[in-house]
Amino acid sequence: MEGGWTPEETVALAIELKKLGCDYLDVSSGGIDPRAKIPFAPGFQVPFGEKVRKEAGLPTMSVGLITEPKQAEDIIASGRADMIALARGAMWNPRWAWHAAEALGAETAFAPKMMLCHPKLRPQVFPNRLAPA
Ligand SMILES: Cc1cc2nc3c(=O)[nH]c(=O)nc-3n(C[C@H](O)[C@H](O)[C@H](O)COP(=O)(O)O)c2cc1C
Repeated sequence: MEGGWTPEETVALAIELKKLGCDYLDVSSGGIDPRAKIPFAPGFQVPFGEKVRKEAGLPTMSVGLITEPKQAEDIIASGRADMIALARGAMWNPRWAWHAAEALGAETAFAPKMMLCHPKLRPQVFPNRLAPA
């Protein structure tokens, strides 16, 4: 917001943090003042992290209305962030990372007991979910 902390200052801070050995920055914009008018749309904070990544050369993690596996994958694959993180998406669906791995065709590790509920490993548990259309 007007008179507030700027993206350019964040880049300057990131450069200094990098010199001190910081490995990565999680870039959020901070909703702490009602005067800040931040557009609320999917991936709305990704440009902030992208700027830090490109201009400070520090790996970044993006947050902010990243809710879909493909959306998350596209942000990383297009070089806009090195990592993504979810807050509300993971609060709503704590197994989001497993579901995303399945949606994207990626392999991931499961604790042995959790395999009992994996729809691909135990299709009989969710017969309707995997039934052919
Ligand atoms: C329960 C909760 C409390 C939060 N509190 C703050 C806060 O006090 N200040 C802040 O800048 N961001 C806060 N956030 C925003 C998070 O820091 C984070 O940037 C954001 O939730 C990530 O986006 P997502 O929830 O859309 O995945 C909060 C988020 C949640 C879910």
